[in-house]
Amino acid sequence: MTFRLRSLLSTSLLAATLLSACGSSDAPGAPAAPPPEAIAKANEIFVQRCTPCHGASGHGDGTASGTLDPKPRNFSDPTWQKSVTDDYIVKIIKVGGAGVGKSAAMPSNPDIRNADVLAALKNKVRGFAGK
Ligand code: HEC
Repeated sequence: MTFRLRSLLSTSLLAATLLSACGSSDAPGAPAAPPPEAIAKANEIFVQRCTPCHGASGHGDGTASGTLDPKPRNFSDPTWQKSVTDDYIVKIIKVGGAGVGKSAAMPSNPDIRNADVLAALKNKVRGFAGK
């Protein structure tokens, strides 16, 4: 192996290590982290639309959650986190509870079409794990 090739290899190895250290991709082939604007937008949407029911820390204890039956679940529950796929989380955000056979109290959000914003919202839900 030539020196040039070896240094190229170690550079990409370093880049991969740095990337995974940032937590943007822990599985090989995982999609890149959404851009910062999408994350900011998702945080804004979460505060405005989701916290009333799901609570600021995703515990399902938002101010509007009292009368809901079933109540929004606790997103910090690791067992629940393991039981759902990323695609499912994105889907219920888009189509609402009724669209996936869950409570119709979980509203659909047909206006959120940007895939990066949807991914960032999904990451937000994932981020409550264990918190
Ligand atoms: C009006 C109250 C309300 C709002 C607003 C709301 N949700 Fe929900 N959500 C619920 C309820 C209730 C459920 C539980 C449905 C069930 O278990 O049948 C739910 C379920 C979910 C689930 C799936 C949980 C499971 O058990 O499968 C996710 C993920 C979710 N909501 C995310 C969000 C996000 C993200 C937002 C904001 C864009 C949002 N929700 C806005 C009430 C709400």
